[in-house]
Amino acid sequence: MSGPISKSDQTFLRQFSAVIAGLVALIIVLALFALYLYGLQPTYTDPAQVQATDARLAPVGAVYAGATGQAAMAAAAAAAAKAAASQVAYGGTLDGKTIFGQLCTSCHTAGIAGAPILGNKTMWGPRIAQGLATLVKHAEDGYHGPDGNFMPPRGGNPSLTNAQIEATVKWMVSQVK
Ligand code: HEC
Repeated sequence: MSGPISKSDQTFLRQFSAVIAGLVALIIVLALFALYLYGLQPTYTDPAQVQATDARLAPVGAVYAGATGQAAMAAAAAAAAKAAASQVAYGGTLDGKTIFGQLCTSCHTAGIAGAPILGNKTMWGPRIAQGLATLVKHAEDGYHGPDGNFMPPRGGNPSLTNAQIEATVKWMVSQVK
């Protein structure tokens, strides 16, 4: 295994190396070309997969922390209030007697919490003297009377419309004889 490499072996080695080097170069070129072709493909994202990922990343029980959480909760509360307000109370009736019977009666029939009793002239006289517009406004916005009692805004049902409140107050006033 010693001695100089024969001439024909040298030639073979040179040519064989050249062929190997050429093949390696071809591999690199093909690999780069394949990468280029791959880059041309549009990336496809499955919306269902994105949703599933979002669901997995969402906080358990939708509990949020920090400023983001506060903003999220405020937004949820605002949305809930809006949804409640956009609902139609008592089928949208403008019959004051019906609305009174559904809600206002809980305080105004027995005089709960200092509410003026329906039909009681002594209690309603001075209030009616304020004028209907003031009574309606107090029923809409809520009212802290001078006696320290409190009429909650819309009797506590934010989905009552102004027209419904007005109809009810008119009916209540008409019951004072
Ligand atoms: C939770 C009890 C409660 C409910 C329910 C309630 N009220 Fe009252 N309301 C009061 C009280 C208490 C007052 C007296 C407030 C005061 O003068 O201190 C009052 C007063 C009023 C007055 C007189 C306001 C004034 O300026 O003197 C009107 C009008 C009135 N309510 C309308 C209604 C209508 C209409 C409803 C139903 C949609 C209703 N209330 C439901 C408790 C209630």
